[in-house]
Amino acid sequence: MKAIAEAPSKAIVTGEHFVVHGAWALAAALPRKVKVEVAESTHQRVISNGVLVSDRQRLRPIGRILEAMAKEYSLDSDMTVSITSEIPEGAGLGSSASTMVAVTSAVARLRGISVGVAEISKFAMVGETEIHGRPSGVDVAICSIGGVVLFKRGSSPRRITLNGTKSLIVAFSGCKRSTRRQIRRVSGTKELFPSLFEGLTEAASEVSLMAAERLSAGDLEGLGRMLSLNHAVLSAIGVSSPQLDRLVDLALSLGAYGAKLTGAGGGGSIVAVAPGGKEKSVVSGLRDRGFEAFLAKIPAGGVRSWLEK
Ligand code: MEV
Repeated sequence: MKAIAEAPSKAIVTGEHFVVHGAWALAAALPRKVKVEVAESTHQRVISNGVLVSDRQRLRPIGRILEAMAKEYSLDSDMTVSITSEIPEGAGLGSSASTMVAVTSAVARLRGISVGVAEISKFAMVGETEIHGRPSGVDVAICSIGGVVLFKRGSSPRRITLNGTKSLIVAFSGCKRSTRRQIRRVSGTKELFPSLFEGLTEAASEVSLMAAERLSAGDLEGLGRMLSLNHAVLSAIGVSSPQLDRLVDLALSLGAYGAKLTGAGGGGSIVAVAPGGKEKSVVSGLRDRGFEAFLAKIPAGGVRSWLEK
């Protein structure tokens, strides 16, 4: 018997980094997935995209989740964990959170433990904290819950309803980056300019609330304005990069309503919205210039798991 779980990828629509410091963030689950299979074994093994993982740093986050679950539920943590991912690593699209959420969910399913979003998030955060140092929890929340969510530390996530499906344009700059380093960098800026940072955090939080309203009302033009405004604030705290700025400018010149970096920045991806008739041409324009770009339909579902023989 094996248990399988699939968790979505994600885009932070607005509010990344500031969410670590108490702002609201708006996040959307994207259809690309991580699939995790867990099966009985005599010892712990992790296989990633068909290759046995031996690097301790890569094994540790999953080991921590297994230990935490074993302690809480008195379960045997020896098992083989096989990960298959459609999400590029270091692209700001939630590959680690999605993996941690799917691992938690699959382990619970294999051991017959009934877990809800709160428990999945709690254990997935053990792995995420090992990887990123001080994550806010937004990535884990959106990969567990799915859909579109407003997230703030210490508050219950708020689901945002959409009128039908919408498309987000996602483009990868081609540069991988470390979320841990980016979070540290922003904390450094906060220490240097505390009152300025507080004002920017309030502004980013307001942008997220307004972006959620615009998205829910189907006003992509208004949402686009919020994206571009948010990109400017993120640039001001030093988490953009020349490639990301170029990609944002390119999306705008191709007809997007608005664009911004998404996730930790410094590399990774951008997210953009465009008028319905222009989305495909923006994506192909970005591809023509050598970037990996795609249209992601939202809302996508959250994590799900099942047993198989
Ligand atoms: C990364 O997807 C989002 C950040 O805000 C980090 C976090 O919230 O944990 C950069």
